[in-house]
Amino acid sequence: MYQTLLTEIDNHILKVTINRPDKLNALNKQVFDDLDNLFDEVYTNNNIRSVIITGAGSKSFVAGADILEFKDFTPEQGMALSQRGHQVFFKIENCPKPVVAAVNGFALGGGCELAMSCHFRIASKNAKFGQPEVNLGLLPGYGGTQRLVQLIGKAKALELLFTAAMINAEEALHLKLVNYVVEETELLPKAISILELINSKSPNAIAQCIAAANAVFDEKVNGYSIETHTFGSCFQSPEMKEGVTAFLEKRKPVF
Ligand code: COA
Repeated sequence: MYQTLLTEIDNHILKVTINRPDKLNALNKQVFDDLDNLFDEVYTNNNIRSVIITGAGSKSFVAGADILEFKDFTPEQGMALSQRGHQVFFKIENCPKPVVAAVNGFALGGGCELAMSCHFRIASKNAKFGQPEVNLGLLPGYGGTQRLVQLIGKAKALELLFTAAMINAEEALHLKLVNYVVEETELLPKAISILELINSKSPNAIAQCIAAANAVFDEKVNGYSIETHTFGSCFQSPEMKEGVTAFLEKRKPVF
């Protein structure tokens, strides 16, 4: 169904594998089209409660934008590519269901940007992160200048952007770019175990946590106001009734 993605739903967790291993899973136009369409399904398919994004093979998560595809672009085409990247990655970032990147190797350029558009990241020990665009006479175009500053702070972000340095998983952990570093064989099990826990919670409450947390970085909205309104709206949700009733009845809620 998707030319560049492998998808599998198990126990309400959608595993998405970017599948261009011969090109280290570089992001070309088709990958963006496929991710765009897939996330339409994620938003609407009630059987999906959370998502893992990973890369095919043991070497690479995603080694960046497909350099061959944009090498002869005009400035207008470059801008359009950046806007497309923003649109698809905003769709991931604003997804009302948790999206976790399971980073299994190189996460460079657009790959690091894709990982950063997910709600959080888990890395295997062989993962490598970096924004090497300045080597190509470019800067990150898919939100990397913004999200790297948000996640690790401006000074360290600028150092990584300026130097194009590739950092290993332990350093990414130290910088809070990733939440956990695990053995390669433990990468997917770790992501699945966290998402199984998350999937046992109220999906509506989780969607509102995502909206409120994302509002911190959206200057068009007031995050406290979003929090107040979503907090209030929860009081009419069946899930809140179930959660509170279960607490009072000393049982686990069923969402
Ligand atoms: N775009 C297009 N093709 C890419 C790619 C990218 N971003 N990254 C890797 N590939 C391709 C290589 O061209 C090569 O294809 P080929 O076998 O047809 O020649 C294949 O993937 C394997 O990559 P290779 O460079 O041979 O692997 P390596 O182990 O020697 O090096 C990297 C791995 C990740 C260090 C290296 O591929 C690299 O620097 N990639 C570009 C990273 C980058 O600048 N990303 C930001 C882009 S804006």
